Amino acid sequence: MACDSIEGWLKAGFESAFPGNDFSNVRALPATDAKFGDFQCNDALAAAKTLHMPPRKIAEAVFARLEAERPAFIAKLELAGPGFLNITVSPDWIAARLAALAADAHAGIPQTGAGQRVVIDYSSPNAAKQMHIGHIRSTVIGNAIDRIYRALGYEVIADNHLGDWGTQFGILIKGYRECLTQEERDNLTVANLEKCYVLSAAKAKEEDGAWKEACKAELVKLQQGDAGNLALWKRFIDISIGEFDRMYAKLGVKFDTYRGESYYNDTMPGVVAKLQEMGLAVESEGALVVNLEAEKLGVAIVRKSDGGYNYTTSDLACVKTRVEEYSPARIIYVTDARQQLHFRQWFSIAAKMGYSGVKLVHVPFGLMSYQGKAISTREGNLIKLDELLAEAVRRALEIVQKRTTTGDAPNPAADQATPAQLSLAEQIGYGAVKYSDLSHDPITDIDFSWDKALALEGNSGPYLQYAYARVCSLLDKAGNPDLSGASFACSEPVEKQLALQLLQFGPTVLRAAECYKPSVLADYLFQTAQLYSSFYQRSPILKSEPAVRDARLRLCALFGTVLSTGLRLLGIDTPSRI
Ligand code: ARG
Repeated sequence: MACDSIEGWLKAGFESAFPGNDFSNVRALPATDAKFGDFQCNDALAAAKTLHMPPRKIAEAVFARLEAERPAFIAKLELAGPGFLNITVSPDWIAARLAALAADAHAGIPQTGAGQRVVIDYSSPNAAKQMHIGHIRSTVIGNAIDRIYRALGYEVIADNHLGDWGTQFGILIKGYRECLTQEERDNLTVANLEKCYVLSAAKAKEEDGAWKEACKAELVKLQQGDAGNLALWKRFIDISIGEFDRMYAKLGVKFDTYRGESYYNDTMPGVVAKLQEMGLAVESEGALVVNLEAEKLGVAIVRKSDGGYNYTTSDLACVKTRVEEYSPARIIYVTDARQQLHFRQWFSIAAKMGYSGVKLVHVPFGLMSYQGKAISTREGNLIKLDELLAEAVRRALEIVQKRTTTGDAPNPAADQATPAQLSLAEQIGYGAVKYSDLSHDPITDIDFSWDKALALEGNSGPYLQYAYARVCSLLDKAGNPDLSGASFACSEPVEKQLALQLLQFGPTVLRAAECYKPSVLADYLFQTAQLYSSFYQRSPILKSEPAVRDARLRLCALFGTVLSTGLRLLGIDTPSRI
């Protein structure tokens, strides 16, 4: 049984004890407690059902096979409790794995996505409005999933499904013509668009209804392809995208396409016709609906009684286009949890229509509050994303200036910051905003608090960035020696714990991808940083004799690589100096 993987050895053990059964899922998991060993295998418990045997009996049989063929790198195998197999590996094996990890161009991230395409639909704000703090979640979570899938080797198409069509454009066109000054029209910004929308929408509520009718007429003209209205609409969209891009540039977010809802206008009638043809959609009170009561998903309208299409029709047309054009293995949609029913409904319709080769995934996220208060226009805390990011930089700059200003000298004013300080403050400020979201399971409601986001201690972006910068400065202090010939420290318990944790990086990235939770990676990075900190406190590095010093330094350097690779997957920069 020549193998150097724990799982290969375990599988062979199970197969030889119970031939003819499928043990392809047998796993060596990190031990829950170091006193039980380094890894544990719980698959005897999992196999009890299929084998109709008590798990302990299964484990005993497997144990005997494993012991008989125990490779040199397995230092100890123990049988425990109801059927756990506890495994201790040799330090040499750990060091060899670490060397392989250090040499791997993918930092140990398995290339499970090679040759597969994934569309990720995220951020997707509505046009002609400024982005506000509510938009942070879809943007940041979606972008982390995007980066994680790319790291796994998937070909990712990041698509910004802008809300660029609908009744609001009638209101906007009328408002543009009559509520803005010539100067505002000449220098059109998203802020002006927002303003003319508010003014025009207010007038549309007036008693006589004349304004409302006029807005409707503009909308109909637009829908019928009137050149003037179409040109205006196009201009509104371009200006919106320009403004969104300014935010995305700050956040390090890039899209491959910006196909808004309007892109699918021409596809919708065909999709509805097909639904009718298949007998899936039926008339009901003038509308066309798909009955999903059997799945307890209610009834989904696919054509309104006025003949117009809706969000469901648009997503069905969109999936048709994406499947035909990209043949993706998955399409991932990142939106707030209030859209769950919408996605369940149309995923079910898509399945009935025969889109079964593509895995459709909705990643819903919870609400965000700001400093303990719900985000709402009425509360007056519907803060613009631009302002939030500016505030993040301002606060981070204070930290940076405090750290870089020596003695009791007062902080220089923000406008006296050097370009280097400013760029550092951006990296820290944006990193803090992102991490404060990504460290939570997407589905939970979160509260954004400046103190927590920018804390230098605890589970925060700045804490992890600082941990990285400390590794860099340690290596600097050591004179940045070439460590490629050194071994990896992993004999002391704190070293071994850190070493085993580093080996879990690739599997963790894969797990985060499979459950669509960047928080799995964030948790891992935080735990790793804590293990590093225990190791750093207990294992003297620079004062040790050369071989030990280099082996410890090499472990530090690998921690640095894992941490910065991981943070980059979360969209967070890792400055080497803070
Ligand atoms: N524009 C929508 C919103 O603001 C999100 C669109 C999500 N993508 C989709 N294909 N439905 O909530």
